[in-house]
Amino acid sequence: MARTLWLDSGRRLFTWDQIRLPFETVELELASEQDCAKAIVTMQVRGAPLIGAVAAYGLAFALRADARDEALRGAFDRLLATRPTAVNLRWALERVMQVVRPLAPGARADAAWAQACAICDEDVACNAAIGRHAAALLTRLARPHRALQILTHCNAGRIATVDHGTALSPIYALHEAGLAVHVWVDETRPRNQGASLTAWELRERGVPHTVIVDNAGGLLMRQRQVDAVIVGCDRVAANGDVANKIGTYLKALAAHDNEVPFYVACPISTIDPHCLHGDLIEIEQRSPREVTHLLGRDEEGRLRSFQVTPDDSPAANPAFDVTPARLVTALVTEQGVIPAHVDAIAQLLSGGGA
Ligand code: MRU
Repeated sequence: MARTLWLDSGRRLFTWDQIRLPFETVELELASEQDCAKAIVTMQVRGAPLIGAVAAYGLAFALRADARDEALRGAFDRLLATRPTAVNLRWALERVMQVVRPLAPGARADAAWAQACAICDEDVACNAAIGRHAAALLTRLARPHRALQILTHCNAGRIATVDHGTALSPIYALHEAGLAVHVWVDETRPRNQGASLTAWELRERGVPHTVIVDNAGGLLMRQRQVDAVIVGCDRVAANGDVANKIGTYLKALAAHDNEVPFYVACPISTIDPHCLHGDLIEIEQRSPREVTHLLGRDEEGRLRSFQVTPDDSPAANPAFDVTPARLVTALVTEQGVIPAHVDAIAQLLSGGGA
């Protein structure tokens, strides 16, 4: 299966247009800083690790056009402003910046491109490692005579990353290893990343799954129909608070109340050591139109936008929420499993391992 972000034989950069999924599988070429920024803003690409990787290429494209100091700073700031919550965006841009800033302008674009490629390769390895660590945890929860029942929210799958995904990586690993697994897929209103993207991915891999409305998870947990919840994250604060797609917090509360383990698949690049606690994380406020209108396919197969609210009702659209560390059973990183706790996170970030 191809990566989510790939170079063709002519070194041109491509991805999938995620706005068109699951109805149409359309390749999207990214050929400039502007293309990369637009794709992030419009959510043609989305998911914290993928946003970071696309932004890194965006900076490389910008440097091809103008690599002087002022232009470099301008492109960095413009790309950083595309989405506020996922810290991988800043992480990737700063990583490229650190490499190119000391170089002469003429050497910067190639160095930035090489960094963007390295970020992609490392993302693939990181997510595979998260998959192995989380699969070991989840295997222990499997019960005889029934498939392992996992609930996930939003899309933290292969198309939210360069490959494998974070929260879905262990599910693919278990499925490929022959363990019976079934996934409850939260639809994830308002943009339906679960119903549209996670379901599409799971179907593509042949993983048994059922799409549910966002409000169904609590009931399923009370009925013991969920063995574990696993989600991705957009930013983890130094104290272990987790920002992720709106609705994650409610799942964590329901999991806590029903003693269902709540795991967060967390690349180390998603931990923000400068953010002391989750209330300091900027929550993206998106257009109310995403709440008042739904995108779907009509009976003739055409993609249509449908209004679902009265004409004049105001709508609010906070895109992320914060789950307090106390509700998180563990963070699963590429280096292993750690408690969502300030000391464990500090140790991990200082190179002390999981
Ligand atoms: O608004 P999105 O679709 O970019 O939000 C995505 C999420 O919240 C994911 O759960 C998170 O980025 C982790 S992706 C591996």
